[in-house]
Amino acid sequence: MKKMAQTLYFSLLVIALCSLSEGIQRRYHYINIEKTWTEAQRYCREKYTDLATVNNINDMNELKKTVNNNLEFVWIGLKRTDVFTWKWSLGDPVKYLNWETEPSTDTNNCAVMRNGKWRQQKCIDKLGFICYNDELILIQKNLSWTEAVRYCRENHVDLVSVDSEKIQLWVTSVVHQAWTAEVWLGLHYYCLMNLWIWVRGEVVCYQNWAPGVQIQLNHCSGEHRAGAVQSGGDHKWISLPRSQELNFICTRNKEN
Ligand SMILES: *[C@@H]1O[C@H](CO)[C@@H](O)[C@H](O)[C@H]1NC(C)=O
Repeated sequence: MKKMAQTLYFSLLVIALCSLSEGIQRRYHYINIEKTWTEAQRYCREKYTDLATVNNINDMNELKKTVNNNLEFVWIGLKRTDVFTWKWSLGDPVKYLNWETEPSTDTNNCAVMRNGKWRQQKCIDKLGFICYNDELILIQKNLSWTEAVRYCRENHVDLVSVDSEKIQLWVTSVVHQAWTAEVWLGLHYYCLMNLWIWVRGEVVCYQNWAPGVQIQLNHCSGEHRAGAVQSGGDHKWISLPRSQELNFICTRNKEN
């Protein structure tokens, strides 16, 4: 009876806490140096991930915050690849557009932003620009879960908490470069409560466990376990002893 009440209590707690989780965003950086589109792309690829890529309204809002009240035109990572096709710098298809006026089919083949709206511009013009970086970084070192937590905290921010489908997609986009078949996440089993929690202390709401993985362990004997994502296949999560040495994913420092 006591056990049931306890389980009920935790279920309610989980429901209450789940509505609070908030994803991390892609980060944009305004670079106030005048360059052509291609030079700007090279700069962003050296120092960040690439020229600004915008996949949805959330990205767009972040991007607008980055340039603040700047009224100059700045490059974003959008370029025309043929008469009717615009692509993002890394080749991603365009899912979100925010043109001020529909682009015409002239030779202005790159895109700039001003006041939150985009327009076409000659790629050889020299302008300031916006780079972005991914929030996540795959570390190709084989470390135990505990060492991985320490490494991320010393060099970046933390082991990644995959608290939404969006973050799972980001994980998917970096995990294929891993050397190990599984990659540590910031997920661990708190055996006293029979509960999986993220390193930041959040309970697990969004989940992506592989089918058949035994996640409710109901005992505190044996080695402590932590959660890892499969680097191949469907990138599902599995539970492993913490001493296994795997690659891992950190969330990045705000500044780099
Ligand atoms: C890490 O582990 C993988 C898989 O076990 C192995 O192929 C790789 O050589 C290891 N890397 C290092 C640096 O030890």
